[in-house]
Amino acid sequence: MKKAIIIFGSTGNLTYKKLLPAVDTLIHEKRLNPEDRIFLLARHDIDLSSYIEDAKTQVKRHLDWETLESYLEFVYFNLNQPQDYIDLEKRLSNKGYIDNTFYLALPPKLFPVVAKGISESGLVQKGDDSKRIVFEKPFGEDLDSARSINRELWKYFEESQIYRIDHYLGKEMIQNILVVRFANKIFGQTWNHNTIRNIVIIAKETEGVMNRGNYYDKIGALRDMLQSHLLQMAALIGMTKPRTFQSEDIKDAKIKVLNDLKLDASSIVFGQYDGYLNEAKIDENSKTETFIFATAHIYNDKWKGTPIYFITGKKLDEKRSEIIINFKDDNNLTQIFSNATPNNSKLIIKVAPEDGVKFQLNVKQPGLSDEIIPGHLDYCHTCDWIGNTSEAYEKLLLDVLNHNKTLFTRWDEIEAMWEIIDEVQKMDKPLYKYKDYSDIKDIIKTEKGVDIDAL
Ligand code: BG6
Repeated sequence: MKKAIIIFGSTGNLTYKKLLPAVDTLIHEKRLNPEDRIFLLARHDIDLSSYIEDAKTQVKRHLDWETLESYLEFVYFNLNQPQDYIDLEKRLSNKGYIDNTFYLALPPKLFPVVAKGISESGLVQKGDDSKRIVFEKPFGEDLDSARSINRELWKYFEESQIYRIDHYLGKEMIQNILVVRFANKIFGQTWNHNTIRNIVIIAKETEGVMNRGNYYDKIGALRDMLQSHLLQMAALIGMTKPRTFQSEDIKDAKIKVLNDLKLDASSIVFGQYDGYLNEAKIDENSKTETFIFATAHIYNDKWKGTPIYFITGKKLDEKRSEIIINFKDDNNLTQIFSNATPNNSKLIIKVAPEDGVKFQLNVKQPGLSDEIIPGHLDYCHTCDWIGNTSEAYEKLLLDVLNHNKTLFTRWDEIEAMWEIIDEVQKMDKPLYKYKDYSDIKDIIKTEKGVDIDAL
């Protein structure tokens, strides 16, 4: 069956940076057939060749533009114009496109108007799973707005047709968390508060807001990163073994964690990088945070007393996302080994830029010394892999085309994540300016007594 992907917001950052490169790979991997098409919608009076010329200046990766062009069609489209939806419906049905994915690379406030348009024009019928609709995060700006967007969507679509993207879930090592945890019995008995001292979930970036000031200044790090990517990582780390590894059972296991997880409001540190106020499209008095540190706990028997530390921000020392599982020491460690350094054993799940798993454990220093030092078992997930590895968006786009919902967030997860965030976002907290990562680490140490380097 011929497939169409219809992208709303095709002149936006997301389309240039993620979607076009993902489509290019899917073509080369032969995951799209020559008769499949990508319809690029935007309110610009241009043709496909000028679109491609513009896109070439925006897309950072090398793409096979000639082949890609043969899969693309550009469509002038006004989101507020019902006739444009009707014309699109005719265009798709005349060309015989039945298996259609509508990708909304748009701000959330536009979701309802597009949902209504595609429904009333007959582009999508409620309950027809051959028509799917994809939304980008953040899904709403708080619990109330997310609920009202969702109410609108459910008027027009069944939950089975709705794909809410959190692109972190498409990353190799995030997909790998459940395999590492549940395909290795060694972790079965140890993955709880008895053995794990704390969990650190980090997503650091070196870039600033770049040209996304308009969006970012309204959202900030708490809602841009923690509400989605970091809480999803926490849910995968914290969940108990699902009944099966089918999509709904995994989500049922994650939702239990999200319902039990609470951020400790008094632990939170908000930072804003120096120079943020001079970035394009940023309010000159903006109080938006570009960095957040927060401690959370999962209030259940499995995790009692084990803190989770969340760290995420822009303009930091390096681009790195990882999850560190810090293990407790044996109670008698220093009685048995008087020279042992405490807190040396940890498992690091490396998400990006490298992907893999690193296990740090206590070992004896080689030679005549009795010193105990940290030794490392370092698994690189893709180093020895000969085939292509998939980028998050390639995997997610392919999953939408194949009607596979495992890596997409269900409504109750979104609701639970907003509940966690809403509790803290209404509070008035100081905003610390930082020049670099060491600045903000010093503030966290002084204000909250947490030494990030020792985690
Ligand atoms: C996006 C955020 O969801 O994730 C961006 O909106 C952030 O602000 C990006 O830069 C980080 O993703 P990645 O895959 O580059 O770590």
